[in-house]
Formats: sequence, structure tokens, C-alpha cells
Amino acid sequence: MPGTGVFAEIIEGDVYKYYSDGEWKRSSSGKSVAIVNPTTRKTQYKVQACTQEEVNKTIEIAKFAQKSWAKTPLWKRAELLHKAAAILKEHKAPIAECLVKEIAKPAKDAVTEVVRSGDLVSYCAEEGVRILGEGKFLMSDSFPGNERTKYCLTSKIPLGVVLAIPPFNYPVNLAVSKIAPALIAGNSLVLKPPTQGAVSCLHMVHCFHLAGFPKGLISCVTGKGSEIGDFLTMHPGVNCISFTGGDTGVAISKKAGMIPLQMELGGKDACIVLEDADLDLVAANIVKGGFSYSGQRCTAVKVVLVMEAVADTLVEKVKAKVAKLTVGAPEDDCDITPVVSESSANYIEGLVMDAKQKGATFCQEYKRDGNLIWPLLLDNVRSDMRIAWEEPFGPVLPVIRITSVEEGIHHCNASNFGLQGCVFTRDINKAMLISDAMETGTVQINSAPARGPDHFPFQGLKDSGIGSQGITNSINMMTKIKSTVVNLPTPSYTMG
Ligand code: G3P
Repeated sequence: MPGTGVFAEIIEGDVYKYYSDGEWKRSSSGKSVAIVNPTTRKTQYKVQACTQEEVNKTIEIAKFAQKSWAKTPLWKRAELLHKAAAILKEHKAPIAECLVKEIAKPAKDAVTEVVRSGDLVSYCAEEGVRILGEGKFLMSDSFPGNERTKYCLTSKIPLGVVLAIPPFNYPVNLAVSKIAPALIAGNSLVLKPPTQGAVSCLHMVHCFHLAGFPKGLISCVTGKGSEIGDFLTMHPGVNCISFTGGDTGVAISKKAGMIPLQMELGGKDACIVLEDADLDLVAANIVKGGFSYSGQRCTAVKVVLVMEAVADTLVEKVKAKVAKLTVGAPEDDCDITPVVSESSANYIEGLVMDAKQKGATFCQEYKRDGNLIWPLLLDNVRSDMRIAWEEPFGPVLPVIRITSVEEGIHHCNASNFGLQGCVFTRDINKAMLISDAMETGTVQINSAPARGPDHFPFQGLKDSGIGSQGITNSINMMTKIKSTVVNLPTPSYTMG
């Protein structure tokens, strides 16, 4: 159970503590933030409402802790990360329970998220040992006008304090995807969890605490965005921000100082279906890609662009699969569970009503009970409908019928997002040409979009983000290159 056993020290009364300087603390604000269970719509947990002063102190300590961490041998950093990964996996049950209660993630997916996170941390430790253990050696005589009088040695050095802000949909996994690269690269880490998902994050952070990381190296401050959000992202002590979420990322990128930013801000992933596609494979991927975790994934299939000639058949196949999706509570491991908040549900409903008013074909009846929205496939969607462009982040999927591949590519590229996309065809040559033409960070051929495996590069074009993630890219992004140039008094050539 959350907050019990080894996790007993992270809660006092009914309020979870925040983590700073290697200790679990109560905020001096005396205030807390309520976390509403999306299923019951009642307060499930409470976390500390940290003050700006507490944030200042945490960052100051993180700065200090980073200095000695940077001097800790790489293999020792890796060893601690492996330990944290094992502890995280050992405690998957209570952490998964938090995910079920805070973000209504289906029970099995919640466990998968924690296990995947442990694997990510371990992989990151191994990758870090490999890539940070190597530097470059350059010689001056390859550039015109130079003799071999200069040897340049480069290595990767940490940035300092990394601020990690994960989203509600993968609070644990998208937190560790920032924490592990930061730590292996010799940085310290301050985590600001999303409100929904904060308690899952606090449990995960406790696993790092139990692994024995030095005091202050990792910390987790909770609270209201209005009080500590901008304060954190504009803090002069922060040397790098890794953010996953929505529009807030645009505001952060405008306000942040001259520091490296890694941002993933959502997508409107298009699924282009050609006449020669295996329609059973397409239907299975559309349902999995569009409806898993009730569509609350940045990489969900968010618009189907299908050639008119096969549209009727495909829609029928998808409808048959949608009919089999179970709808209900995350505890029962239903496929479709309540969306994260009432405001999310209202937003989704707004998109559905707009499509209705403009004449989309409803393949199922629209049904909602509180935050629970039944899966809905909207056929014959046109580009004047909001759902053709906006990201519902819910179980509603539009189908646009196209008469040429170019039309599909055009719709995909007209989006302000450019995270991922997919194309289904048996013709690999066509698939490659379409992939090259799609303005997205990744194109999947014959499969739905997805971020994983977690060592693959993950990036968005346009409003979908800045920089590239994935384990290797994140480690590199959280480092700087440092060069030392050895200047010789006379040219020296290595002879055979
Ligand atoms: O931010 C990425 C997340 O929303 C989707 O991740 O692993 O479901 O593709 P995944």
C-alpha cells in the first residue's frame, strides 16, 4: 500500500512530504495541494505546497551536492543507479497503485510503467558508462594552414542542476527518463512532479533515497504551479530544463534563461493508410495507438488519413475492435478509464460537439459519465472541424478520408505539431518516400507511433518540442563539451 512499509516516512498525517537535502520534510507554508482521483472525483492524496524559499534552499543544496557528485567515478554513479532501478522494481506494486488512483492508469499498465522505468534507469547507467567514458582526440594539421602542433582532448562534463518536469500521463517513467541521464552525467536533479502523479513520483524518489544517493543530489518539490512554477523555471540556479507536457512548455521556453532545454509538448500524430495496407494490422494498430490509456499519450494516433477506396472496410474493422474495448475503473484494468480531470473531459466534449454540429459521422453513440468518456470513432471528419487539428488527449479518434497520398501528407504537415506519424502500406519504397515527406520527428512504418524502446531517439518538430530524447540523446543533452588543447613547441607526427 502507498505510504506504508518502507514508504511510511514519506507521509505525515494525510499529507505526503517533499524531499530535499536527503530528507522528507513538511513545508513551512502549512498548506497542501489536493490530488483528485479521476475515477471517484474525490481527494485521494495531499502533497506539500512548497514555498519559494524552500525551492531556493533546495536548488542551493542541489548546486552544492553536484560538485562532489561530478567527482564521483562514473562506475560508482552507475552502481547507484542500478541499485535504484532494482528497488524501484521491487516496489512496483505500491507505486502502481498510486498511478491507478492519481491518474486512472489501468492496473496492468501502471505496473508496466514502473517496470519499464526500472529498465530505463539500468539501461541509462550502462549507456552512460559507455558514452561518457569516451572523448575525442583531434589533431590540428587536418585544418588548412596548421602543422601538427596542437592536440585537442574533448570530454563531456555535467551542466550542473537539471530541473525535470514530467507530465501526468507517465509521471514515473517520464520523470526517470530525465533523472537517470542527469545523474549518470554528473548533474544534480530537482524534480517538480505534475499535481496528478505527484505521489507516484514521491514514492519513486524514495527508491532513489533508499539506494543511497548523496544528500541533496536529487530532490522533489511539490506545490502549486502559480506559486513555484515560474519561480523554478526562471531560477538562476537551474542549468538545464527537461520538460514534457503541453502549452506550458512554450511559456517556459520563452521565460527560461540561456540554458539548454529539452521539451516535448504533444502531437497530432497522423496515421496514413494506403490502399494496399494490411487492414487487419492497421485496425489493430489504430485501436491500440488511438485508445490505449484512453488516448492520453502524446504519441497516440490522433488522426487517421485513409484512402477512400479502403475507408469503409477499415472503419468497419476498427468499429468491431472498439466495440470490444472494456470501459470502466482502472482498478478493474479496463481499457478505457476516466480521463485525468473534469476540465479535460469538458475539453474533449467540446471537440466532439463541434464535430457533431459540423456533420461528422458518429460510429458509436457519444457517452460520458463524469470523467469517463466511452471510446468514439468519428468518420468523415473534415478540415473545418476542430478535432481534425486539435489534440483531444482522450478516447476520441477522427477519420479523414483522402483521395491521394499527397492529401494525407499535406494534412499531416499542415499541423502545428510534428511529433510522430505512421504509414501503412506493403510497398516499402512508397513508405520511405512518405516517411521522408512527413514533417514529424519520427515516422513508424506499419505500426502505430510510440516513444519506446526507450533508447530510441524521440523528438518532435515544430510545436512538438525542442531537442531529442531517448536515453543516449538525453545523456548527451545533459552534458557540455570541454576541450583541453595541448600546444607543442614543434610539430610532432606519429610515425609508424
Ligand atoms: O511523451 C510521450 C508519451 O506521451 C507517450 O509515450 O511510450 O506511450 O509512446 P509512449
